Amino acid sequence: YVKSTKEILEKASKERYAVGAFNFNNMEFLQAILEAAEEEKAPVIVATSEGAIKYIGKGDIEAGAKLAVEMVRTYAEKLSVPVALHLDHGRDFKIIMAAIKAGYSSVMIDASHLPFEENLRETKRIVEIAHAVGISVEAELGKLKGIEDNVVEKESVLVDPEEAKVFVKETEVDFLAPAIGTSHGAFKFKGEAQLDFERLKKVKEYTQIPLVLHGASMVPQDVVKLANEYGAELSGAKGVPEDMLKKAIELGINKINTDTDLRITFVAYLRKVLSEDKSQIDPRKIFGPVFEQVKEIVKERIRIFGSSGKA
Ligand code: G3H
Ligand code: 13P
Ligand code: ZN
Repeated sequence: YVKSTKEILEKASKERYAVGAFNFNNMEFLQAILEAAEEEKAPVIVATSEGAIKYIGKGDIEAGAKLAVEMVRTYAEKLSVPVALHLDHGRDFKIIMAAIKAGYSSVMIDASHLPFEENLRETKRIVEIAHAVGISVEAELGKLKGIEDNVVEKESVLVDPEEAKVFVKETEVDFLAPAIGTSHGAFKFKGEAQLDFERLKKVKEYTQIPLVLHGASMVPQDVVKLANEYGAELSGAKGVPEDMLKKAIELGINKINTDTDLRITFVAYLRKVLSEDKSQIDPRKIFGPVFEQVKEIVKERIRIFGSSGKA
């Protein structure tokens, strides 16, 4: 079932497309992501954050990681597309170890909040452990924050390509997430969307490994509008435009992390279904149409990433 993340991403890097890495916290999101990938004949990565593992395991991280693996294995077994299970933003050594032991395909060590030398040291330590058992590792350089106009601020937040070169060589990390101006959540840019493509280009040139774009949700405006029409308060929500994602892929992004687009779609349609079918109390009849829409947004993303038909 769970395939090697490295194999999936090295093929993407060679053929210059991106694979979606979609976060899930429960069974329904996982089903929607996997069905979308199967219908698009696309390789796919499903990811749990540390918070997702705790949520699934009700605070027990071993149980959460094990349940995540078992859910993915059970559904993926029946599919024809490659599926990998990834730990997103691993910071806690115990959770990273729990994921490795439970059978994850890959882990992220996110020590990007630490100074460069410490990030390097911490990443190297995880790479040594993970590689010993055949698991690949993602790390992050720079901080996920929107680009401010101020040059000093920009330098302190975004990836330094020269550092990326040293970092990848020293740590032997498999994938790198360079901060180029995206941020997590539904409010990514105050003004115009802006990403530093020059930096991205250099990082790819200097490292030659699969690169990851975090905070990459598009926050589709029609979905935001729908959610707001049914009572949500999400005005000002803004994501990464489609043409910028495509440009990032051309310049070497091969894994695109998406969580917010699924969350916002879920909330918009949940509000709609509940308000249009006021006597419905069967959760399956409520979730059914809602997760059909989540599946559609995943398919749309997969098509934009260029991974349709790449399984
Ligand atoms: O990286 C951020 C993802 O959206 C996961 O977020 O920590 O709320 O599960 P979370
Ligand atoms: P979004 O909040 O843009 O979906 O980013 C998700 C992410 O980067 C998960 O690691
Ligand atoms: Zn992220």
